[in-house]
This record gives sequence, structure tokens and C-alpha cells, in this order.
Amino acid sequence: MGQIRVYGGRPLQGTVRISGAKNAVLPVMVASLLTEEPCYLQEVPRLLDVVTCCHLLRSLGTEISWQGREMVLSTPRLAGIEAPYEYVRQMRASFLVAGPLLARAGRAVVALPGGCAIGSRPVDQHLKGLAAMGANIEVAHGLVRAHCRRLRGASIYLDLPSVGATENLIMAASLADGVTVIENAACEPEVVDLANFLTAMGARVSGAGTRTVRIEGVRRLSGGRHTVIPDRIEAGTYLVAVAATGGRVRLENVIAEHLTAVTAKLQELGARISATGSTLVIEREPGGYPASNVRALPYPGFPTDLQPQMAALLTQAEGVSVITDNVFDSRFLYTEELRRMGANIRNEGRSAIIGGPTPLTGAQVRATDLRAGAALVIAGLVAEGETEIGQIHHLERGYEDLVGKLSSLGAVIGYTAPKSHFLGA
Ligand code: EPZ
Repeated sequence: MGQIRVYGGRPLQGTVRISGAKNAVLPVMVASLLTEEPCYLQEVPRLLDVVTCCHLLRSLGTEISWQGREMVLSTPRLAGIEAPYEYVRQMRASFLVAGPLLARAGRAVVALPGGCAIGSRPVDQHLKGLAAMGANIEVAHGLVRAHCRRLRGASIYLDLPSVGATENLIMAASLADGVTVIENAACEPEVVDLANFLTAMGARVSGAGTRTVRIEGVRRLSGGRHTVIPDRIEAGTYLVAVAATGGRVRLENVIAEHLTAVTAKLQELGARISATGSTLVIEREPGGYPASNVRALPYPGFPTDLQPQMAALLTQAEGVSVITDNVFDSRFLYTEELRRMGANIRNEGRSAIIGGPTPLTGAQVRATDLRAGAALVIAGLVAEGETEIGQIHHLERGYEDLVGKLSSLGAVIGYTAPKSHFLGA
């Protein structure tokens, strides 16, 4: 695996088109398991996680093909009911197959996700909801084994508004016998996108996007057509990058209302942002940022998936800024890498304390997770000199053509060939 090299100090200028949302397309692809009929998806982003999801679904019997830029998924019959650790380890969203497999086949064997670089990743809320719907669940040897004759509707209160648990349970409930009500559900736009796709398949889902979702189970679902919503986290990453480097960039294929918390924060920091239809334009001169506090919360709060990127920007703010992540318990591994670039940042529990402004200098760093990688790219765009970022497979999981898109905006960025450790000294 190669590295990404970034040379800092240039403003970003031009137009970038935002791709379909990683965190919407994954549950939507998994939802195709709920029907024997073909499903047609537009705006599927070219991401490593989409490839992993294709491998997982194919192992379960799904036929996947492309008609131009349209992905076609069809599972006329299931060939398996297991999501082995090799997939779950690579991509935690693999756990979303549990609900659909139980709903369709009455059985599921899914590996428990381990922890990861952003904290412990339990699935207790997923399991609590499936058990409430009548699934018999056994957890042993790192596997969740579940079975039931037919899921039945239930009232479920989530201890916390888990995105994945909400999505898993909506999918399971769509074929259950009776009505399911999920309280304290996640409201993220990606949950709404999944609900819209399920509705196109004939499911009866109401309240998606609010804290209370009601699903009236049906006997069967048909295939459906769906256009995946734009990726608000990709868009937010570019907005933060422009705020950090200065410049003027037009983002196309954006739903501005999904980014309100982000655009409001960036405007506090002096960025000028205007929205017209599905386009956002951001403009900012470099420098002169006031210190600011960011609190990552469930939607519609500031997204946890953009807090690392904000940290990179706030290294340039004048004064002390504090970023607190109330969603994940340890999503600050990236602070070590930013410190190596000269940032005055330290992690205290669920917060990062950032003193600024500090001039950043290019260095060799590594991406510890997808969004940490994005933070390092932004830091590299601001730093003096060259930054080389390793472990870039993390970035390729969630950003379509990041290097190409940033290059088209004037960034000096590219891939370096993997270093061969066997040639020469
Ligand atoms: C989704 O992860 C996203 N991934 C994450 O994006 C995102 O950060 C997260 O939601 C929060 O918005 C996908 O959609 C594929 P959660 P998910 O269940 O579903 C705890 C990215 O960078 N929890 O809402 O795993 C959990 O430990 C990724 O694109 C339980 O305690 O998130 C965490 O602290 C990273 N028990 C919090 O809830 C459970 O059963 C939020 O988790 C489930 C979760």
C-alpha cells in the first residue's frame, strides 16, 4: 500500500462534486437481502467499503452487477446466513445483515465487531431489539447466533440513539408479524434514506428521522429503485478543508440541511457559505480564526465523523479550542499524529484541547482511521512542506477519489508508490 503526499500552503479553488453517502449506501445495499427481487441503486460511491459489502452480500447469495453507473443487486435465494469475522473485522457495518437474515431466513450467524480505533463498538442495542422481536440469541466464541420462527412486532427503547441499531431493527421489523415501535431512535439522514428505500420496496415505515420510528411488518417486500443521498461527511470534509486553506470552492450534489451544524460552526469561524439548490459555495481567507468549541452529538448535532477534521482546522485558531465527542469514547488517536506536525493539542478523556495558532510542518504520519486520515490530509494542506500519510486504505474506505478531487481544486497532492523494503539498502 502506498502513501499520500501533500504539499501545504495553497488555497483551494474550483468545483467538486460530492458522491453518494457511504453511510447510506451500506445499509441500503444490505436491505436488498429482504427481497428475492432485483434492486437498482444510483449514486453508489466507488469506495473500499462498498467493495467489501459486495463481497459479503455475494457470500450470502446476492448477485451484483452494474448497468452503467447503476448497481443491480438480486438475491433470489439465500446461499448462506453467516457474516464471518473477516468481513465484520474489515467493516463494522457488516453487522447490519443480522436483522435482514433473521427477517428473511429466521437464522443469522454474525461475528461480533471488535473494538476499533475510535472506541469500543458494542452491539448490545441491536441484540436487545432483535430479542424483543422474538429472536433467540446466543453469544459465544465471538459470534452472535440468532434464530426465530418469525419475528414479531415489539416496542423497543434504545438506551442511546444508535445509528446501526436503528437501521438493523427497522430492516428486521419490516417483515415482522405486527407493529414495531423504536423509541430513542437515531435521526441521521442515512436512517431516513434507508427508510425511503424500504418504503419503495413496500415496507410500511413512519417517523424515520425522528426519535420514534413505527414499522408495520408486511409479508414480503418487492425490489426497488433508489438514488443514494449525497455524503454529508464527504461534503463537510471539503468545507473544513477550504476553511483551513482559504480559497473559494463550489460543492455540487449537496443537501445543505444535512450540514446545518457544520456550516453554522464554520460561519462562526469566519467562512462565508451560501446555498443554492443542491450547491454550496464556501469562501474564506486564510488565518484570523477565532478559537471555538465543538461538541460532537447525535444528529442534528455536530457530526462525530467531522470532529477530527475540525481539530486540524482549529490548530490555526487564535486561542484555546475544545472538541468534545459525546458519541464515541476514544476518537482522539489522531491527536498524536497532529502533534507530530507541530499542533498544540492534547487529549483529555472525551475531549481534545487545542491551543493555536500553531504553524504546522509537514511530516510522515499515519491514518489511524478513516476520519483521522481526512484530518491529516487537511493538516497537510495547511502545513509548511511535505506531509506523507501512510495507512491510506482507511481513506479509500470512505472517500471516493479524494486525491483526484483535491488535485482538481488546486491541491498539490498525489500517491507515492509503496516503498519496497527489498530494493537497495
Ligand atoms: C454509524 O456507526 C456510522 N457508520 C459511523 O460512521 C458514525 O460515526 C456513527 O454511526 C455515529 O454517527 C455507518 O453508518 C456505517 P452508533 P454505528 O451505533 O452505527 C454506542 C464513519 O467514519 N453503541 O450510532 O456503529 C457506540 O459504541 C463511521 O463513516 C452502543 O453502546 O454508530 C458508540 O459509542 C465511523 N451499543 C455510539 O453508540 C450499540 O448496540 C454510537 O454508535 C450500538 C452503539
